Amino acid sequence: MTVIIVNDYESMSKMAGEIIARQIEHEEDLVLGLATGSTPIGTYKYLIDLHKAGKLDFSEVTVFNLDEYYPITPDNDQSYNYFMNENLFNHVNIDKKNTHIQNGEAADPAAECRRYEDAIHDAGGIDLQLLGLGLNGHIGFNEPDSHFPKTTHHVALDASTIEANSRFFASSNDVPKHALTMGIGTIFNARKIVMLISGEAKADIAKAVIHGNITPQVPGSILQLHPDVTIILDEEAAKHVR
Ligand code: F6R
Repeated sequence: MTVIIVNDYESMSKMAGEIIARQIEHEEDLVLGLATGSTPIGTYKYLIDLHKAGKLDFSEVTVFNLDEYYPITPDNDQSYNYFMNENLFNHVNIDKKNTHIQNGEAADPAAECRRYEDAIHDAGGIDLQLLGLGLNGHIGFNEPDSHFPKTTHHVALDASTIEANSRFFASSNDVPKHALTMGIGTIFNARKIVMLISGEAKADIAKAVIHGNITPQVPGSILQLHPDVTIILDEEAAKHVR
């Protein structure tokens, strides 16, 4: 793993934005895997600014998002579908038919997960996957478990994840209790992975992911085995990493 420590959130966002922008410029038909949550918002702002300055073209880019709550409707302002439109897609020239996220209102979630996994495969796999890191070590919504789930699947969210994400909802009772998420295998198949970690609250879990044992109890620790991972941390998150 390449571990890069930068001063602050802004520098982290700029560095990740530059990596993504260079990849979009160099690879025609790039397939990007993207994340939601607080961490990547600055990166998306940076990419939007580049686009608005006429320096970045999204017209040939395809996106697959990591996860979506279940059940949730796409027009719910807490859905990840809504988040991606608000924070990136509505502000750049991406073709919406090339943006993919699991259907949070699918009648048959298992069938929806199979469809999603097949769609990633049919697109040629993910070239560059952007990740955040959960306080409990989750990547996507792969929660601490006894095994590493392989493909896109239906999960029950951890109580700690529901609590962490309740900051976006009126109360923790309003947070959906389930999600559809890419599996660890889906993420691991990405040719290149960039993980962003920001803030002191993530300092312990960042250390566990980077230096700890590889265990499904810390899902992000599997990245130690991937051939092309860059982790960008701000100073606060990197407190225990050096
Ligand atoms: C989001 C996702 C999650 C988040 C993680 C960190 O699509 O899959 O793994 O990356 O929960 O969230 P924030 O960035 O809000 O701390």
